[in-house]
Amino acid sequence: MPSTTPSPNGTTFYLTTAIDYANGAPHLGHAYEKILADVIVRFQRLQGRGTHFLTGLDEHGQKVQQTAARRGLSPQQICDESAGLFRALLHDLNISVDDYIRTTEPRHKAVVARCLQQLFDAGEIYKAEYNGFYSVRQEQFVLEKDRNPDGSWPEIYGEVVTLAESNYFFRLSRHQDWLVKFITENPDWIFPTFRRNQVLEFLKEPINDLCISRPVERLAWGIPLPFDPGFVTYVWFDALVNYVSAAEASPGLWESGAHHVIGKDILVPPHSVYWPCMLRALGLALPKRLIVHGWWTLGGTKASKSTGNATETLSLAKLYGADTFRYYLIREMPVGQDSDFSREQLRIRHKTDLANDLGNLLNRLLSLAARHTASIVPKIQQPGTPPPPAREKDDGTLAALWAETAARYLDLAAGFQFHNALDALWQFIRAMNRFTEQRAPWKLGKSANPEDRALLEDTLANLAEGLRLAATALTPVMPTIAAQIQSTLGLTPADTFLNGQLAWDPSKTEGRRLAEKAILFPPVEDPATAAGTQGKP
Ligand code: ME8
Ligand code: MG
Repeated sequence: MPSTTPSPNGTTFYLTTAIDYANGAPHLGHAYEKILADVIVRFQRLQGRGTHFLTGLDEHGQKVQQTAARRGLSPQQICDESAGLFRALLHDLNISVDDYIRTTEPRHKAVVARCLQQLFDAGEIYKAEYNGFYSVRQEQFVLEKDRNPDGSWPEIYGEVVTLAESNYFFRLSRHQDWLVKFITENPDWIFPTFRRNQVLEFLKEPINDLCISRPVERLAWGIPLPFDPGFVTYVWFDALVNYVSAAEASPGLWESGAHHVIGKDILVPPHSVYWPCMLRALGLALPKRLIVHGWWTLGGTKASKSTGNATETLSLAKLYGADTFRYYLIREMPVGQDSDFSREQLRIRHKTDLANDLGNLLNRLLSLAARHTASIVPKIQQPGTPPPPAREKDDGTLAALWAETAARYLDLAAGFQFHNALDALWQFIRAMNRFTEQRAPWKLGKSANPEDRALLEDTLANLAEGLRLAATALTPVMPTIAAQIQSTLGLTPADTFLNGQLAWDPSKTEGRRLAEKAILFPPVEDPATAAGTQGKP
């Protein structure tokens, strides 16, 4: 049953991802999209917003029917098998979904049938004879203008056959002028903005009405047209409706304005043309935003189910831990751009950013506190001012640097610049490391001078507070690690960024009992990296 993560202030942030095709195993691209959506939704929750996070499985269509026939299984069996794999992925990556929709579920089929009937009754759907070319691979009719200059068909269409059949059409063309106006007047509707131009470019040509039916003799695995049992509906017409059918059980959710996270390959035309026109014809609210990410490539080729290692790559989430995998993907890909996946870079991020910069810093604090303060976080000397007596040059206060960092971090995250947000956070973490080097608390601990003792205590108090804040900020990207750091510091995980959770406040850490050590990022050997083959760390 769907459930919404409760909303302390009454508004709900509805976030969806694409629903994955059931005719293949999950791969890197699917993993990234779910992680990105999870990071967005966790940021919202930590800012005190109620959220409803939906993902699911796209189960109908010719490809599933073909795969089933080839494997001697029923289409439903293929879908059930895929649902198991995709749901396991969500679990392994710690994706905090509120609902999972499958397009074979009755709750979905009922809404699709209702939408079709409504559009038919309103004259938005009509029947016509179609005589032309059909791409078997893309499951769509293609036109003369789609040919290559040399007359051949672009490779994406695969085999193109001629077909003459009666079908039902949605009056898409009727909405074109409205759509252009809407997209032009709402520059933020598509993120990043450069993708909007691509849509407007597409809309410069007149768009055709959309064929939304397939005769059952050709395709049985679909949702029947309620007004003509001789046909099932086109898979995109079925799939897009999932965002509405899943919201049925939560009154007002759809109207609150959905945020759709999708890949760039399904922006034009499905999400930027079909979907808004379908909604308009149905008299339903439009989504608030399309958040469009780029592609992960492997050696320059798009990761896909036919790229064998795109699925194998997911095993790295087990090898390094889900949080390292999440960190790597979010740190390396600016949302909207493509990135090439590198196991070597993943290894380096784990070892450098995570194990060295963050893990070792935490352990330094823990071991110093165990040795000198019975693992209790001491009192900070002068919150917000350079702690006296600083005999060596400090970087400035960590408190002041944190204030800047937190503002920048939240700002970047609000603009989906998560890779830069993490970069800003790591500048702070590295500053804490430099601060520790400069203070050299291991030397202070050997001194009998009370001033040295005061400086030692101040250093540990600063580190504890800085680490609390870094962990709190990191929660949306690395939820498990963040909670482990909090618990190592004797704290319960921060539930929100509200109530000053992201503000420098040493009273939150003072007097806490620290753990003696924490192994957050154990060394990993990936045999497929240079270091792995040489057997070196
Ligand atoms: O398109 N890098 O399903 P799908 C990043 N069922 N993202 C990628 C990717 C890659 N290499 N490969 C795929 C479908 N994706 C439809 C969606 S929504 C109503 C129906 C993304 O399994 C892709 O862009 O082919 C899409 O957003 C999602 O994974 C599912 O792709
Ligand atoms: Mg695809």
